[in-house]
Amino acid sequence: MSKLDDIFNSVGDRSLFKDKEILQARYSPEDIPHRNKQIEYIASVLAPSLLGQKTSNLFIYGKTGTGKTLSVQHVANELINRSKGANTLRIISLNCKLKKVADTEYRMLAELIRQMGGSVPATGLPTDQVYLKFLELLEKSPEKLLILILDEIDEVVKKISNSDFLYNLTRLNSDLKGIQIAMVGISNDLRFLDQLDPRVRSSLSEEELVFPPYNALQLQDILNKRAEAGFKPDVVEDGVVAKCAAFAARDHGDARRALDLLRVAGEIAEREANPKIKIEHIDEANQKIERDKVLDVVETQPKQYQLVLYSIFKLIEKTKDAIFTGDIYAHYQELCKVVNVDALTQRRVSDILAEFDMLGLINARVISKGRQGRTREIKLAIPENIVVKSKEILLNSLDL
Ligand SMILES: Nc1ncnc2c1ncn2[C@@H]1O[C@H](COP(=O)(O)OP(=O)(O)OP(=O)(O)O)[C@@H](O)[C@H]1O
Ligand SMILES: [Mg+2]
Repeated sequence: MSKLDDIFNSVGDRSLFKDKEILQARYSPEDIPHRNKQIEYIASVLAPSLLGQKTSNLFIYGKTGTGKTLSVQHVANELINRSKGANTLRIISLNCKLKKVADTEYRMLAELIRQMGGSVPATGLPTDQVYLKFLELLEKSPEKLLILILDEIDEVVKKISNSDFLYNLTRLNSDLKGIQIAMVGISNDLRFLDQLDPRVRSSLSEEELVFPPYNALQLQDILNKRAEAGFKPDVVEDGVVAKCAAFAARDHGDARRALDLLRVAGEIAEREANPKIKIEHIDEANQKIERDKVLDVVETQPKQYQLVLYSIFKLIEKTKDAIFTGDIYAHYQELCKVVNVDALTQRRVSDILAEFDMLGLINARVISKGRQGRTREIKLAIPENIVVKSKEILLNSLDL
């Protein structure tokens, strides 16, 4: 055997994974422990769709990583399997967080049309014509019901900034003949409902379902199932799964976080040529994930948010100290001119700052300035090396 064969073959031997895909967050397991109640509820709301009947709109809320997407897709797949050949039902899923697909009302509609088998030019048509085209396609299709799953629906309001789009969607049924639309909205931001026009809110949440966070023991069950299928036998040391579960349950029971910890710990152990995943690997995995998470948040923020964030970075770089809302707003307005974007109001920018605070990018402290009212003192909550990398990402994304 040649030397290279040795090297390449030993990689296979060293691998701790049997099937890494199973430990990825995007993998959908058949078996979904601790979500029977929720899955059965979704199924019971949507069941009449099998007869082509209009079902209630359903709004699903729960913190991140509580199995919302997984559970809804599971029910959707079951419905599709059962309705095959009957032409009663069609299901479209849209992840509203996806850039280029769900950035604007126009793009969102274009994507719906594309999924219905039609097409529209990338830009150019007036919006009401795009609606008409969508209606036309719907009425031409043989199905009696379209279930429209809008995952991460809070992003719609964040990006399109008024609820017209959702309002229009909820009103389409009155214009449709022969087919109706039922919506399933999924969000991990409960404040989202409050931001909506009351008519849209009540329509969207005819039925409501909450996904509670998992506790540490439930996370262990979930992890054990996936570890068994994803890793080779005996590579996970005792206590590792329990620690991943405990880590992920600390904030709130986030199964994605738990899985990521386990998989990344596996990758780190493998790179060290360690034959087992040890408890120490989880701490390392936690640091790496934190870093990647921040960068990912920075990268996926809408443009306006990125402009605000970039203003914060620039100002802090200059002052090396805490900065205030007013300074950020002034810098942001200038930046908007440079990139030719309409500036939001100071009020909206304050909301964005509050969101950054929640995401853990900044620490904001409200301080009273006596008769001049109140302001927020802003500090960065992320380490210097991540700031540097984040700035690069923003420069690129904003074309600065
Ligand atoms: N009960 C479960 N059994 C097995 N895996 C699960 C379970 N719940 C969640 N997961 C896994 O955890 C990850 C996150 O789940 P999911 O994507 O459904 O979360 P979510 O509630 O939609 O979160 P977000 O609000 O961030 O979109 C996925 O990889 C999913 O497969
Ligand atoms: Mg989801």
